[in-house]
Amino acid sequence: MTTNHTINQQKCDETCSTCSPGQAQSAPKSTGKGLPPKAKIDVKHVILVLSGKGGVGKSTVSVNLAFALASHGKNVGLLDLDFHGPSIPKMLGIEDQRAAVLAQTIEPVHVTGNLSVMSMAFLLPDKSSPVIWRGPMKMGAIQQFLTEVNWGSLDYLVVDLPPGTGDEALTIAQLAPNVKGAVIVTTPQDLAVMDAIKAVKFIEKLELPVLGIIENMSGMICPHCGETIDLFSRGGGKKAAEDLGVPYLGEIPLDPEMVKAGDEGRPYILQHEESPTRKSVDAVMKNLVQQVES
Ligand SMILES: Nc1ncnc2c1ncn2[C@@H]1O[C@H](COP(=O)(O)OP(=O)(O)O)[C@@H](O)[C@H]1O
Ligand SMILES: [Mg+2]
Ligand SMILES: [Zn+2]
Repeated sequence: MTTNHTINQQKCDETCSTCSPGQAQSAPKSTGKGLPPKAKIDVKHVILVLSGKGGVGKSTVSVNLAFALASHGKNVGLLDLDFHGPSIPKMLGIEDQRAAVLAQTIEPVHVTGNLSVMSMAFLLPDKSSPVIWRGPMKMGAIQQFLTEVNWGSLDYLVVDLPPGTGDEALTIAQLAPNVKGAVIVTTPQDLAVMDAIKAVKFIEKLELPVLGIIENMSGMICPHCGETIDLFSRGGGKKAAEDLGVPYLGEIPLDPEMVKAGDEGRPYILQHEESPTRKSVDAVMKNLVQQVES
């Protein structure tokens, strides 16, 4: 394990055009006793957002939760760890922004006075550059996101992960301090729920709390009348939570306005104060805060 950073630096220096050698060299050193130390980031609660499957709405949930928390006065960081498919910058309409890389620190993109975002996408030369990285390189990058990004003093760091139970989730669980647990996002379909159950077991193996399951795209809000239509069967997320003995944080309907918001880069909850979907996002956020802070 002590060689991880060496590997990371070598690979970065050789093959990675996105990460300057200066940056790679400043990666924190491992303790030499196995795992690197917990990163010194000033944060009260680190929340991982995970799912078994892609496309179930992790990034959407991460963005809307981060905004909901920020609008309740919390200092929030949103960390996009989906290196291969970073969607947070696009969803926030900030995909053309770049993080300022200073001598010692990397400045995140400040979306509001109390919400900052960091994504690999902010370090790439342009938005169509793919990230072709191995596990150890990602581990080094995650460590830099925790130690070198100027987050300030955070109440919450919401971490949007790629689908599944891979390196990114393992690494952040090891390196971040105050990891309060994971939120598992699923859709109602059986296959997604089965994968969500795997994600729950993965988090339990890491000896982290499962803060709860969210059933996203649960029923559909009719664009004509605003009523909820049962498009797919509903309730799979709730049942899985009951079966597994983990909290259920609530459901968010499939709402065409949510797709539009994502595509247009304007977070849904900023635009729809009174909608049923907004109410369900708020309810999920409140349940999550209760799990974390009580
Ligand atoms: N509740 C919802 N209603 C409508 N569309 C949604 C909802 N949640 C997510 N989406 C859309 O589904 C797509 C996938 O969501 P995304 O958050 O990127 O999933 P993931 O991060 O799990 O891959 C996006 O186009 C997003 O706008
Ligand atoms: Mg995503
Ligand atoms: Zn209708």
